[in-house]
Amino acid sequence: MKKKSLVLLLAVFSIFTFSAVKKAQSTDHNYYWMKISAKDKFERSIIANLGVAIEIVKEDYVIAYGSNVELEKIQQLGKLEASSNLALENDFPAKDAGYHNYVELTSELQTLATQNPDLVQILSIAKTTEGRDIWALRITADFSEAEQKPAMIYMGGHHAREHLSVELPLMLAQYLVNQFRAGNPRIVQLVKTRDIHIIPTVNPDGMEYDIKDASYKMWRKNRSKNSDGTFGVDLNRNYGFQWGTGGSSSDTSSETYKGPSAFSEIETIAVKNYIEAHTNISTLLSFHSFSKLILYPWGHKYQAIETANDQAVHETMAKKMSDWNGYEPQQSSALYIASGDTTDWSYGVHKIISFTFELDPANTGFGGGGFYPGVGVINPVFQKNLEPMLYLLEYADNPYRVLNVGIGPITR
Ligand code: ARG
Ligand code: ZN
Repeated sequence: MKKKSLVLLLAVFSIFTFSAVKKAQSTDHNYYWMKISAKDKFERSIIANLGVAIEIVKEDYVIAYGSNVELEKIQQLGKLEASSNLALENDFPAKDAGYHNYVELTSELQTLATQNPDLVQILSIAKTTEGRDIWALRITADFSEAEQKPAMIYMGGHHAREHLSVELPLMLAQYLVNQFRAGNPRIVQLVKTRDIHIIPTVNPDGMEYDIKDASYKMWRKNRSKNSDGTFGVDLNRNYGFQWGTGGSSSDTSSETYKGPSAFSEIETIAVKNYIEAHTNISTLLSFHSFSKLILYPWGHKYQAIETANDQAVHETMAKKMSDWNGYEPQQSSALYIASGDTTDWSYGVHKIISFTFELDPANTGFGGGGFYPGVGVINPVFQKNLEPMLYLLEYADNPYRVLNVGIGPITR
């Protein structure tokens, strides 16, 4: 991200101003980025003498990196303008710089909301273990009436290494705003009549860990510290419907560790609370990668959904969407049984019509590995999934319309 780094750094500071200060009182050595006022080389030397590393020099301030002890000293001098303990050194390997790391993602979302206050709201739905905000965007043309409109939610990044799943929801948000502004009649209509929720990454800690030191870690879970000192719970095994009934692990070091209990994790609780706060949500799409699949409940058992119409809606929609993106539509458990995933909960508990997309590529042979397919796929994968994304949004008023049998809107 090099050339934009300062801009991004400043964007972060404006969002996270002083959030780190309280933590600095502990005796542990934590490290912080600091914005410190300094007008000339003499003032800068005083700061450098305190032990921080000055990385960027501007006319009346510097950006420096240093410990909590140093941060406190600078605070006492009255020179600290802002600080952040976000790990700004985390970034993609250079060849994949087109993907957004957490700081870049935050900056894009913040910018979209700031520049379009009439269309976009940004909300932090939780702070993760490592102190990052989980961002939700809400897009609609008139917020005062949002709850009365049919709603849909898009999510990405449950799994840390599935970076493409974060790009699509971000691009969708930008697309909706740009096309609304451009007067695209279909998008104007959708933005006016739908309440649109987008959580680009549910797992920012995992995502940042995966790209730490610009080398991929193949990390999947979040970064919760487990009771035995291992790290991570599989967020797509932690949702509270038929939790722990198969295809998930109670071994803390397993890739599919289900957590100590259903909804034990900050991230899944945040999604649960958010969805339950918006009872108008009727369709849901959770992006994962990879395999080119369209999945729908159930995932915890082989049987089909018991309510025939619900089964038919999922089946019909999945088939329709596969016409556009070419992905294979199937029941989740046709892949393998897994319990505690997002869509079993959202459909099982709330009767939301719910899909998981496993994005490109189809297999690991494509452009350097399934989870890391390179920047070249970002645009084409967005393009082929645009129509499915809009289709689910269009039918959010009453997904049962796809059956053409005059069933009323769902209530829950
Ligand atoms: N690959 C994803 C995961 O492992 C999707 C799982 C979908 N659910 C299922 N029951 N197979 O979390
Ligand atoms: Zn996944």
